[in-house]
Amino acid sequence: MKKTAVVYWSQTGNTETMAKAIAETSGGTLLTAAEFSANQAEEFEAIAFGCPAMGAEVLEEEEFQPMWDSVKSNLSGKKIALFGSYGWGDGEWMRNWKQEAEEIGAELVAEPVIANETPDETALAACHELGKKLAQ
Ligand SMILES: Cc1cc2nc3c(=O)[nH]c(=O)nc-3n(C[C@H](O)[C@H](O)[C@H](O)COP(=O)(O)O)c2cc1C
Repeated sequence: MKKTAVVYWSQTGNTETMAKAIAETSGGTLLTAAEFSANQAEEFEAIAFGCPAMGAEVLEEEEFQPMWDSVKSNLSGKKIALFGSYGWGDGEWMRNWKQEAEEIGAELVAEPVIANETPDETALAACHELGKKLAQ
C-alpha cells in the first residue's frame, strides 16, 4: 500500500464523513486543511483532497483555498484524488476543481467523488473505492 494522506475541510461534517471513509480503505493519515502544509506533500505518495462547495461554487476560502494554492505547485505528476459534499448546486465547484488539478499536471487516480449533503450508502461505497485506488 502507498503512503497516503486524506486532507479535508468540513463545516457540518459531510465532507469529514467522506474523508473518514476514504482513510478507512486507504489506510492513510487523516488531516484537516489547517493541519496540512505544502511541504508535507512530498511525505506522501498519494493524497486525497476534500472540500465542500462553498461561496458560490468555490472551495472554502479561509483555510482550504490558501492551503490548496500553496500546495498545488507541488502536485505536478502526483497521484491525487478529489472529493466533497455539496448542497443546492450541480457539482460545478468540483468540475472546476478537477479541471484545475488536471491543468497543474496532477494525476487523478479516479473520478472525483461528490455527495449531495450527507453521503448516502452509494456515496460512501464510492469513497471506499476511492481510498482503495489511492493506496494501490
Ligand atoms: C456558506 C455556504 C456556501 C455554500 N455554497 C454552496 C454552493 O455554492 N453550491 C452548493 O451546491 N452547495 C453549497 N453549500 C452547501 C454545502 O456545500 C453543503 O451543505 C455541504 O454538505 C457542506 O459540507 P460539510 O458538511 O462538509 O461542511 C454551501 C454551504 C454554505 C454554508
